[in-house]
Amino acid sequence: MAKIGNIDVGDFPLLLAPMEDVSDPPFRALCKEQGADVVYTEFISSEGLIRDAAKSTMKLDIYEKERPVGIQIFGAELDSMLKSVEIVEKSNPDIIDINFGCPVKKVVSKGAGAGILKNIDLMVSLTEAMVKHTNLPITVKTRLGWDNDSIKILEVAERLQDVGCKAISIHGRTRVQMYKGEANWAPIAEVKNNPRMHIPVFGNGDVDTPERAMEMRDKFGLDGAMIGRASIGYPWFFREVKHYFETGIHLAPPNMLERLDAARRHLQMAIDWKGEKLGVFETRRHYTNYFKGIPHFKEYRMKMVTSDDAADVFAAFDEVERDFADFQFA
Ligand SMILES: Cc1cc2nc3c(=O)[nH]c(=O)nc-3n(C[C@H](O)[C@H](O)[C@H](O)COP(=O)(O)O)c2cc1C
Repeated sequence: MAKIGNIDVGDFPLLLAPMEDVSDPPFRALCKEQGADVVYTEFISSEGLIRDAAKSTMKLDIYEKERPVGIQIFGAELDSMLKSVEIVEKSNPDIIDINFGCPVKKVVSKGAGAGILKNIDLMVSLTEAMVKHTNLPITVKTRLGWDNDSIKILEVAERLQDVGCKAISIHGRTRVQMYKGEANWAPIAEVKNNPRMHIPVFGNGDVDTPERAMEMRDKFGLDGAMIGRASIGYPWFFREVKHYFETGIHLAPPNMLERLDAARRHLQMAIDWKGEKLGVFETRRHYTNYFKGIPHFKEYRMKMVTSDDAADVFAAFDEVERDFADFQFA
């Protein structure tokens, strides 16, 4: 049974990865319904939060039904990180996660995200200060190292644990790799097998089939799997993994009516949460996967992704129901 601080997250929990512009409240709610055990917000800039930038503060919204939920923040300045812990606490999340893994230039160049992998002492001292500043459990998400020659994750994980970090999620790539190549889970297993480690070690990177999730559990012995891209437009991935764990067989994919129900509710929740314009815009990226595999679908998809008017998108869903209700997904 894995525990993040006092929060029981079950046996080999499946965690929804923080994903910018993806892991918003509507999407997190859908993943939770389909079996995600812990969900995280997308990363939120500590500098944005303390300036009260509207875009950053909106990202703090959480629904009761998605708990346990972690709010992820990033930054490299102690003061801003501590102040943002205070701001984040007001949203009453279950967990605060620190992003020490984002590889993008605009983040890394400021020493934040994966940039901090070049300054392990700062990574540890920031974590320690944040742990001391809040009663909420602090978790860390990071990568193996900056590059292949600087993989120090074994030492890093131990030091983070020693200053009070309550769980660590490790993406099996270096910063230099970005998203290229295959995620390497062996160093994550080394962290887990370190007899000094007692906090949960969650694996991340390329879990895209139930078999891969099982491998992470049984071959690599990790405490849980954090899942990102496989869930985009496919929140059913969580239940498929769980079903496979329980039965050893693959669950049939969701049928058309289930997909339409998810698409409709996703769009409606997004509109309720952030208004029609943004709701319509930001839900678009999910449709390709919701309806993947339907032949000659372009005309329908174009209707979904080109109109700014929610009524047009809902009408496109109705047309899909009319024309493809019995479509069998492979
Ligand atoms: C669109 C997108 C946005 C992401 N945004 C974040 C983020 O805000 N914070 C973070 O820690 N990682 C972020 N990531 C990285 C994912 O959390 C995850 O580590 C990575 O995708 C590897 O896992 P996967 O192979 O299961 O997708 C993002 C990834 C994607 C694809």
